[in-house]
Amino acid sequence: MNFSKRIIAMQESPIRKLVPFAENAKRQGKKVYHLNIGQPDIETPENFMDAVRKFDEKVLKYSLSQGIPELIDAISTYYKKYDMDFDKDEILITNGGSEALLFVLIALCDDGDEIVVPEPFYTNYNGFSAAVGVNVIPITTNASEGFHLPSRDVIEKAITPRTRAILLSNPGNPTGVVYTKEEVNLIAEISKANNLFIISDEVYREFVYDGLEYTSFGNIPGVEDRVVIVDSVSKRFSACGARIGAVISKNKELMKQILKLCQGRLCCPTLDQVGAVELYNVTEDYFNAVLEEYEKRRNIVHAGLTAIPGVICEKPTGAFYVIAKLPVVDAEEFVIWLLKDFDLNGETVMLAPAEGFYGTPGLGKDEARIAYILNEDDLRKSMEILKVALEKYPNKK
Ligand SMILES: Cc1ncc(COP(=O)(O)O)c(C=O)c1O
Repeated sequence: MNFSKRIIAMQESPIRKLVPFAENAKRQGKKVYHLNIGQPDIETPENFMDAVRKFDEKVLKYSLSQGIPELIDAISTYYKKYDMDFDKDEILITNGGSEALLFVLIALCDDGDEIVVPEPFYTNYNGFSAAVGVNVIPITTNASEGFHLPSRDVIEKAITPRTRAILLSNPGNPTGVVYTKEEVNLIAEISKANNLFIISDEVYREFVYDGLEYTSFGNIPGVEDRVVIVDSVSKRFSACGARIGAVISKNKELMKQILKLCQGRLCCPTLDQVGAVELYNVTEDYFNAVLEEYEKRRNIVHAGLTAIPGVICEKPTGAFYVIAKLPVVDAEEFVIWLLKDFDLNGETVMLAPAEGFYGTPGLGKDEARIAYILNEDDLRKSMEILKVALEKYPNKK
């Protein structure tokens, strides 16, 4: 019996595929510090749980396919703070940013169409694109340039008659890049000149450090009908398990098409939507405290990594990830070794090998993505473990 070529082409998630090795290590009694996945340890605001506890309907019904009105209102109000004005029919609630991405790709692309994506990119862009028969055309960005975009010429070379959209995450996962206003304007110009959509994954919108300015594609005049924002409560409110995201666009025709997919999957979880409404009521203090915490963590990880001989990494300015070049031949082998063959006083770390975050074969083989989502002490310990591990690792460059 055969499976579809599309599903065969889909890669396993590099973030999750080595989890069985981690599970095995834990069964052997090792403590594993998970730096491989963007699952923050910051507490979800209590008002989410309160709202769910207070829910007193007798039947847990399907909700509306586009999302419950209270949540759409809350998101619309949130966007007004950022000078973006979205009508109710310009916001569709999805099962996380993940479903938003999948729906947008389905709605914009036919089999064999292309999307241009700066690499390294969020690995599931590859996975979802493969699953719907879309080719990811990478534009390589480099750590030495802080993963900022190359020139207009280079970007436009990647565009063909089959290109439907430019997809980027800003702030970037896994790079930590925050695109400048000039870069955002450049992408807007390119999209107009080449009649493309811009799929702007802004799930890390608030995670911007060093006082940098953040520019959303939703604030750029002249491309309103081309911009599709992918959003989520997962990272913003440390609520990854709520599975609530959104597709947001002023292109009403596109939203009408995506609504058909929403109707097909009936609805998002009712209780999670009820809780998510309250998330949007948290005060500025919440974000300020969270941001301060992540900035401290970023500094610990960056200082820890740069103190390890042979490790090269630039200081990221956004999201909560860093890409590090390791002095190893193959980062995946190294991560497996960390889990199978190494421990420091019964403890080890798990990283995400970075090859799966690239579209160009061969790139990222000696790189890993590190998520700085643990508390300061655990991050310090993790950096110490990584340092000792790299001293002992036999297959070094
Ligand atoms: C850049 C980016 N986009 C989208 C997602 C999807 O997140 P969720 O489906 O939890 O909203 C993630 C999750 O890690 C991400 O890093």
